[in-house]
Amino acid sequence: MTKDRRNRAWYGKLDRDGFIHRSWMKNQGFPDHAFDGRPVIGICNTWSELTPCNSGLRELAEGVKRGVWEAGGFPVEFPVMSVGETQMKPTAMLFRNLLAMDVEESIRAYGIDGVVLLGGCDKTTPGQLMGAASVDLPTIVVSSGPMLNGKWQGKDIGSGTDVWKFSEAVRAGEMTLKDFMAAESGMSRSKGVCMTMGTASTMASLVEAMGMSLPTNAALPAVDARRMALAHVTGKRIVEMVDEDLKPSDVLTKEAFENGILANAAVGGSTNAVVHLLALAGRVGIDLTLEDFELGSDVPLLVNCMPSGKYLMEDFCYAGGMPVVLKELSDRLRPAKTVLGGDIKVYADGAECFNRDVIRTMDEPLKPAAGLRVLRGNLAPQGAIVKPSAATDTLLEHEAEAFVFENIEDLKANIDRDDLPVTADTILVLKGCGPKGYPGMPEVGNMPIPAKLVREGVRDMVRVSDARMSGTAFGTVILHVSPEANAGGVLALVKTGDRIRVSASQGQLELLVSEDEIEKRRVAWAPEPPHYTRGYAKMYVDHVLQADKGADLDFLVGKDTRPVTRESH
Ligand code: FES
Repeated sequence: MTKDRRNRAWYGKLDRDGFIHRSWMKNQGFPDHAFDGRPVIGICNTWSELTPCNSGLRELAEGVKRGVWEAGGFPVEFPVMSVGETQMKPTAMLFRNLLAMDVEESIRAYGIDGVVLLGGCDKTTPGQLMGAASVDLPTIVVSSGPMLNGKWQGKDIGSGTDVWKFSEAVRAGEMTLKDFMAAESGMSRSKGVCMTMGTASTMASLVEAMGMSLPTNAALPAVDARRMALAHVTGKRIVEMVDEDLKPSDVLTKEAFENGILANAAVGGSTNAVVHLLALAGRVGIDLTLEDFELGSDVPLLVNCMPSGKYLMEDFCYAGGMPVVLKELSDRLRPAKTVLGGDIKVYADGAECFNRDVIRTMDEPLKPAAGLRVLRGNLAPQGAIVKPSAATDTLLEHEAEAFVFENIEDLKANIDRDDLPVTADTILVLKGCGPKGYPGMPEVGNMPIPAKLVREGVRDMVRVSDARMSGTAFGTVILHVSPEANAGGVLALVKTGDRIRVSASQGQLELLVSEDEIEKRRVAWAPEPPHYTRGYAKMYVDHVLQADKGADLDFLVGKDTRPVTRESH
């Protein structure tokens, strides 16, 4: 029990420093043998009552601890910043990188040998992974797990997806406010993350497909006892991983990212996966570009979950979950190591599907092609994306006049004006919502359909912005336009009445205005004064990369695995 583990630099010294490191920990009742050199496992917890999606993580931490003790390790739980998607202003994404910094520095500063990441809500999974990858100690993820299916008036209702539908129905006069409020209470019936295939469940699915969690992690409901058992088994496994020195850099290879991209297409995953995978790749030194996401463009949509389908994560779990998806994808999967040490294909061993309407086969998919499309052109020289499986097919090839909202306040003040000069063909453009502009690149790209068109029955229009979109949302929504308006992108120069051409099949997003005119407008353009002039938000605006680079902070790209040698006393 005296292997030369990292924790020996804290707990193995028979001097004043060792006394201090051990003695203060003993105030929690840990016995001498906890410090005998056994693997010290950090349980990095994003539990918070302000992040309701992660409110079950304290219980799961207990499950992990049982497994760690059983395997001969020493578990120590520590909190990091929690990023609650539905509760934070101006947007949770502003704080993903702050969480990543907190995770990275917490892991590095303490005497731990391996880490279990407990997260779930949209930004917590990528933020934790980014931070852990930059330290590169053995790491496994245990996700919160999805909430039980929402229920209202005898029907299943899904987080987010049905909120967008209900709010449009209220605006169209098709739903009463009383029903709207009743649905609100029926939607979130248990602890856990959104039970649609939103960003949280997308990221949990990708984590599983990329081998960073144990199999079945993505879909087991948060309150299912089997998730507690999964946490226990994960606790056992992380102790073994420390002995094997199996690190994120061994698992997060280019092939693993490609498997994540394939899985994202098959599950009908969130567009947000693009920025998160790009940022994570930057941490581990993998050359991942927007074009790599085209790998999924011919992958069929296999998982029939909202927002691209009709079921919810609980149904996905009972149908067999990610192991079944990986089995369907097995001919396309790249060879890649997992936290179990073997190849990812092992995760599909013995997988059986129990509901073929929920998880389709490659031969009878829900849609023949589900991956994301990358668009480029003079309006997005560094790229933009669209999710065809959530769009209206006929709008994916479209040319029309633009109607421009200069910022979110302009949109909110005017979208429901009865005299708004728009038709169902108009392309709505929203500026000022990129990483620097908002700041934090919020999920407002699926801007509401103008009220006067909603009343006429219009439910989708082409929308273009430098924002993101909730993973639970849908529509013909072109997102992540790079460079963003506030970084001087051509988006900043679009005027109402300009014509825009969108072609998903050709990968084009063009502003049909002459180069001379664009240049004239550029000379006259001046950036908006910054909304934040101090603190973290200022640092974020000064250093954030564009969406095509994952919107990480420029100085956080890469990793630092050097030992910490200096003491505080
Ligand atoms: Fe937390 Fe959807 S808001 S997972």
